Amino acid sequence: MDKKRIGVLTGGGDCAGLNSAIKWVVKTALDDRLQRSRKIQFEVIGIRDGWKGLIQPEGDEEAPFSRIYALTEEMVRTWDRYGGTNLGTSRTNPYDPKNNCSKIVLENIQRFQLDFLVAIGGEDTLGVAQKLYLEGMKVVGIPKTIDKDLSGTDYTLGFETAVNVITEEIDRLRTTAGSHRRIFVVETMGRHAGWLALEGGESSGAYIILIPEYDFEINKINELVLEGRKKGIRYDIIVVAEGAKPRGRSEILKEGDIDGFGHKMLGGIGEFLEKEIFRSTKIETRSISLSHLQRGGVPCAYDRRMGRYFGIAAIDLIVREEFGRMVNYQNGRITSVPLQEAIARLNLVDVRTQYDTERYNGRRTILGVGM
Ligand code: F6P
Repeated sequence: MDKKRIGVLTGGGDCAGLNSAIKWVVKTALDDRLQRSRKIQFEVIGIRDGWKGLIQPEGDEEAPFSRIYALTEEMVRTWDRYGGTNLGTSRTNPYDPKNNCSKIVLENIQRFQLDFLVAIGGEDTLGVAQKLYLEGMKVVGIPKTIDKDLSGTDYTLGFETAVNVITEEIDRLRTTAGSHRRIFVVETMGRHAGWLALEGGESSGAYIILIPEYDFEINKINELVLEGRKKGIRYDIIVVAEGAKPRGRSEILKEGDIDGFGHKMLGGIGEFLEKEIFRSTKIETRSISLSHLQRGGVPCAYDRRMGRYFGIAAIDLIVREEFGRMVNYQNGRITSVPLQEAIARLNLVDVRTQYDTERYNGRRTILGVGM
């Protein structure tokens, strides 16, 4: 029987659902019955710490052990229940213009005899996967990011768990906000995409939702708050995406480095709003940034299932020899698209059909009535 090696890695920010995807890549590749019918015997090699694992496979001071190891069905049996990624991850970019290590990656792919690679990641990790594909590597991708900003798919692993975290935390904030008649500004992640704020805000019934795709006016927020108070509302939940900004201003950035992919760290818009809203309305206002809580915890049922389906479909792509593609979820089906299509542009909220620019909230017509 033909023997082939599949490498699997997770890159970029961690999230819930990754371990489920890894588990099902391993289980599907190593399944006895399938191996016989495919007439290929697979071996699955786990690559630790994202692309770093293929740059420094022997490890380094940070990880004084090999970053390359064989995965067995027994090892991954319980992984789908756990958050994060048991393979570890990093934001290492082998094609970083300041330190291009792509040759080393290609050499190590040869050295460890990896015939195929499954890259589980967002736009950055899959961008590297696409470049490796163009250099001749047989790569397939699995979409993950709590930001849900990849094109070519309606779902990215980790998103639903993050929305659940937002909803649960806001449920907690409601009782304290209501007791004190306060305004709570809740900052979510999402980078330049408003999906987490919009869907997290809708799930938790937030009064105001602010997204990067539509610049807000602070006066309008104050008006909405005062209007609600006149109607007898005791407290307000305002959900703001980290990338949202007031009209005429730029995004608020955290101090810190720019990563290997050129991303600046966003954060601080919640605190900014807390001060601005209190200054005008004189209503006690507090802010909280949900930050990495959104990426943590156990995966929700949906992420476990989607990780399973994406993992299985990734091996299907390899068996069908359809490389340079990413598995996806579109129109209710798991299929695949070229990696190039997934990374070509960010998938952002369509303000025209999904956002209410008067109420700063989700749209009140789904079927387009009265638009
Ligand atoms: O892309 C996922 C994400 O969680 C963004 O929403 C956020 O801006 C960023 O990663 C945070 O990155 P880090 O974990 O490096 O602080």
